[in-house]
Amino acid sequence: MSDRVRTAILISGRGSNMAALAKAAEKPDFPAQINLVISNIPEAEGLQKAADMGIPVAALDHTHFNNRRTFDEEMQKHLLANNIELICCAGYMRILSPWFVSQWPDRILNIHPSLLPKYKGLNTHQRALDSGDKEHGCTVHFVNEALDDGQIIDQKTIPIAPNDTSESLAKKVLKLEYPLYSKSLYRVAKNIIASK
Ligand code: GAR
Repeated sequence: MSDRVRTAILISGRGSNMAALAKAAEKPDFPAQINLVISNIPEAEGLQKAADMGIPVAALDHTHFNNRRTFDEEMQKHLLANNIELICCAGYMRILSPWFVSQWPDRILNIHPSLLPKYKGLNTHQRALDSGDKEHGCTVHFVNEALDDGQIIDQKTIPIAPNDTSESLAKKVLKLEYPLYSKSLYRVAKNIIASK
């Protein structure tokens, strides 16, 4: 398919969601292709995974920039140079500047390990346990200027077992994240193609 949506994935670490998206996008009928992976952490494990999958990568060390905006401007140069149309944050642990978000309305997706609007931010699994929740899960949403706040695209729920720990929940939720994110990217990319 030549009109597949050119997609970049932003990561900061392990990159297992990135790899799952890239694998899904290898299917010939998938409406998005992964054209670039950017990490703000040069040592991120996910960069090597992406390179091994034949995806162009960019390592941009955020500590070399004075502020969020100048870092995001550099990221924007890479995205534009690669004709990117859609961005997926996948374990990208850096807040995007309002300027950057304004450049990509309805074109940035994020996966978050909680049932938003519950537990925005960090330590989501422990917070779900501490609150005595019976259910937990993950959410894919569009990114807006507020943290973990944009329009929800899809969610997946699992029950919390009495013996669950933060670690066991993290593992269980991660397994749900891969198919949920792929399905969401599929849907959003289809809509972009339909609106072209
Ligand atoms: C995933 O669980 C993702 O939902 C979470 O970090 C993990 C990254 O794993 N993201 C956030 O917490 C974003 N606020 P991965 O690097 O193996 O995909």
